[in-house]
Amino acid sequence: MSEQRKLYVRSFGCQMNVYDAQRMTDTLAREGYVETDSPDDADLVILNTCHIREKAAEKVYSELGRLRKAQEEAGRQQMVAVAGCVAQAEGAEIIKRARAVDLVVGPQSYHKLPELLAEAEARRSGKAGARAKLVETEFPVEDKFDFLAPPTREAIGKRGPTAFVTVQEGCDKFCTFCVVPYTRGAEVSRPLAKILDEVIRLADGGVREITLIGQNVNAYHGLDAAGRPANLAELVRRVADVPGIARVRYTTSHPRDMDEELIAAHRDMPALMPYLHLPVQSGSNRILAAMNRKHDRELFFEIVARVREARPDIAFSSDFIVGFPGESDEDFADTMDLVGRVGFASAFSFKYSPRPGTPAAGMEGQLPEDVKSARIYALQALLDRQKAAFDEACRGRRFDILLEKPGRFPGQLIGRSPYLQSVVVEAPREAIGTLARVEVREVSTKSLSGDILGGEFFAGRPIGETRFIGQSEKLEA
Ligand code: 5AD
Ligand code: SF4
Repeated sequence: MSEQRKLYVRSFGCQMNVYDAQRMTDTLAREGYVETDSPDDADLVILNTCHIREKAAEKVYSELGRLRKAQEEAGRQQMVAVAGCVAQAEGAEIIKRARAVDLVVGPQSYHKLPELLAEAEARRSGKAGARAKLVETEFPVEDKFDFLAPPTREAIGKRGPTAFVTVQEGCDKFCTFCVVPYTRGAEVSRPLAKILDEVIRLADGGVREITLIGQNVNAYHGLDAAGRPANLAELVRRVADVPGIARVRYTTSHPRDMDEELIAAHRDMPALMPYLHLPVQSGSNRILAAMNRKHDRELFFEIVARVREARPDIAFSSDFIVGFPGESDEDFADTMDLVGRVGFASAFSFKYSPRPGTPAAGMEGQLPEDVKSARIYALQALLDRQKAAFDEACRGRRFDILLEKPGRFPGQLIGRSPYLQSVVVEAPREAIGTLARVEVREVSTKSLSGDILGGEFFAGRPIGETRFIGQSEKLEA
């Protein structure tokens, strides 16, 4: 197919959706689709949806309503596909509720997009033999990653020096509040060699930082070349060894799967960033049991202590749910107590949202909205104070920043600290993709700013007086 058509993809929710959106874009690029950043001039719109909470899931319908209105006003012919976890969970229901939709495709079928789109088009033009409704939500036996196109060098360059790579998908943990085991399916790890091929390709295109992603990433157990399962610690080591890769991160982890080797990797590997997102959900053992979390608060404290011992400058982030069915004032106080004891550099907190088909949705003791609101307000205030204190403690510290993109004003670049904070510095555009040694000068709620002391791009240039301290040396505490 050589005719050029325009594709607009909008992703909601987690980082895996961002990654999936890129894989879909790369696959459709082979079919002649070029990306546009506006739905108005797109021939094909893909909404890549999230089903984790009701609010997220409802967004797709308001977005579809908006699209339909814009289509009518402009008299536009546009194909609309709904992908992601709402597609998986609601299937044909979406076509019933939103007539603008031509195709519903679940996360395990993205490799079939070209043929599904051709069929949806045939259906539109009334060709005989085309299926009446296009809903693809099977969990096929083949591995979609074997069929999804890799990005071109140009696409990698456009996406900047950091990249996500899915290494594991799905979940077998079945927390009672969570839809993921139903929407993403059983836990599957990609083979080590295929992940490394992808990382080598990204590094060749200029990527410097890889975030390994999976719903249960630290349960990774992909096969190595000898057919033996490799764990996440080994995968991280192999990824960090790829020439050009300076930094590695991984997310999201489950406390139960933080094994000794992974903790040791935080001690031994400077390229593994000292920042760990480790969802705890609640500080109450009673609620953790009702959530089927398979860990208690004591295990969480123990892991935090062990990781901190291995890597004293590590910072933690986490996810919390307030207002889970049956959560009492004492249970909530336990969550506040846990936060106080651990100290988080950043965190996400949510009001419990009953999800269709999950055990917790049918539990007794569902809490009223005002109780959930009061608790989330108190929890977020505490987490905000902790974040502000963590950021403030960075003033005057020196660390390496990966320069990612231009800032708001000419001459500025924005990079990320080891702790994922945005850091604004003055540097030329050519420095994008390099590590710069920065001393943090200003701290605000949104970002830090600092002075460049040296770095890969600045090596040998007369900037400041302090020598560049390479990535291989440990960060100062
Ligand atoms: N209600 C509220 N928050 C939820 N999460 C997952 N399911 C629900 C739910 N039903 C949160 C958890 C998880 C994060 C990705 O979303 O905190 O770690
Ligand atoms: Fe959902 Fe629990 Fe699996 Fe995380 S571990 S994806 S919260 S079921």
